[in-house]
Amino acid sequence: MAKNIVVLGAQWGDEGKGKVVDLLAPHFDIVVRYQGGHNAGHTVRIQDRQFILKLVPSGILCGKLAVIGNGLVVDPAALLEEIEALEAAGVEVRGRLRISNRAHVIFPFHRMLERITEARPGRPAIGTTSRGIGPCYEDKVARRGIRMADLLDRENFRQLYDALAEDKEIVRRAFQIGDPIDFAAIRARYEDYAEQLRPMVCDTAKLLNEAIRAGRRILFEGAQGTMLDVDHGTYPFVTSSSAAAGGAPIGAGVPPTAVHAVVGVAKAYLTRVGAGPFPSEALDERGEALRRLGAEFGAVTGRPRRCGWFDIPLLRYTSMINGFDSLVMTKLDVLDPFDEIPVCVAYRLAGREIDEMPATHRGLSAIEPVYEVLPGWRSPTTGLTRYEDLPQRARDYLNFLEERIGVEIGCISTGPEREQTVWRPGRKLPRLLEN
Ligand code: GDP
Ligand code: IMO
Ligand code: MG
Repeated sequence: MAKNIVVLGAQWGDEGKGKVVDLLAPHFDIVVRYQGGHNAGHTVRIQDRQFILKLVPSGILCGKLAVIGNGLVVDPAALLEEIEALEAAGVEVRGRLRISNRAHVIFPFHRMLERITEARPGRPAIGTTSRGIGPCYEDKVARRGIRMADLLDRENFRQLYDALAEDKEIVRRAFQIGDPIDFAAIRARYEDYAEQLRPMVCDTAKLLNEAIRAGRRILFEGAQGTMLDVDHGTYPFVTSSSAAAGGAPIGAGVPPTAVHAVVGVAKAYLTRVGAGPFPSEALDERGEALRRLGAEFGAVTGRPRRCGWFDIPLLRYTSMINGFDSLVMTKLDVLDPFDEIPVCVAYRLAGREIDEMPATHRGLSAIEPVYEVLPGWRSPTTGLTRYEDLPQRARDYLNFLEERIGVEIGCISTGPEREQTVWRPGRKLPRLLEN
């Protein structure tokens, strides 16, 4: 039995975390996001309604207390827009959302600054979501960022903001980027946002620690995926935060001992949005087929996602980094029509098999994937809910992955809806959820 668990992406994001968090949230009292910002797009389908959550934790949809932790970067305009859209759809948000007073604030000039890395010759374009995420985290670690608590403190805010604005103006001129910025107009707008957000902002670390002491259960919702983690991912083609499970206690303000189990969400194949190494990418018509069948287009930016085959060395690596207790395998149904399903089982570098993840971009790009080809099942699994109803070959595929990764697959998703889920008999995952 585990009380508090982290649910996070085991690959490059878009694994189906939104669905899985919505599925598991009824067992918990509070759902907390611990990193990232509105670069995330977590889709939850409930009957014929679809929600794409960006900053608000997915647990809000089943009536849980939702917390935006200190580890996030928050664009107030994007957050207010998201809250309004959810409330217009009948979801109560303002009464149930808490925002950390230590979360950092994204300003419009952060988006402008993103162009320095994204559009200058000689720098590799990361293919970011252009939300100003990276530059806001840069200000955070440079110790000049503005936090929610500063935004709410009018006098202090003016001073901090004016100093930050001056820095940005110098950079803008030096790099000759963008048009002149009306910094005063932005400040006035943010003073207005501050009043709208004020009732939801508090010391969420205190709130969470008190909740833990009172025996409440917490689900930590990861954004992005482990391979986009700023330390452990395919650097520099990563996001700017700690998406791995270790980011959860830091980004929520709870002790590491308050995290009792880690659940990884992995897609039955692989996708990546943006630039960077992708050893098992399928650049042929089968990659196209995965994109079409899996509707692999960015939930936030609409960009086509790059598609490829399940990568076992990658999963072994992210299992090592996160210590997965169990995996949820999503989008199995997307593989239904394939005659054959290649699986990357090993990496070679310069002709030799390697058992570690290269640290450099050059090393990562030089990986030669070794494939084993498994037979497809060629029958529909969409919406199946019982393990014994899955075709034998689909079960063989899952067993093959489970054995090679060395972590159980506790649950399988066969469609975007909550109910389209198979719980695997005898696995640990259901026990982790017991009260
Ligand atoms: P997240 O960022 O990890 O929450 O994932 P996204 O929401 O960006 O992308 C996952 C997409 O797959 C969404 O459109 C989901 O509705 C959809 N989805 C989730 N699970 C399944 C599944 O098992 N089968 C299919 N066909 N679609 C799924
Ligand atoms: P969810 O939570 C997939 C990718 C971007 C880019 C890199 C850096 O829905 O899984 P950033 O804007 O964060 O500085 O971009 O990270 N990226 C994601 N890819 N899913 C996401 O979120 C992502 N968030 C960022 O495409 O390659
Ligand atoms: Mg997504």
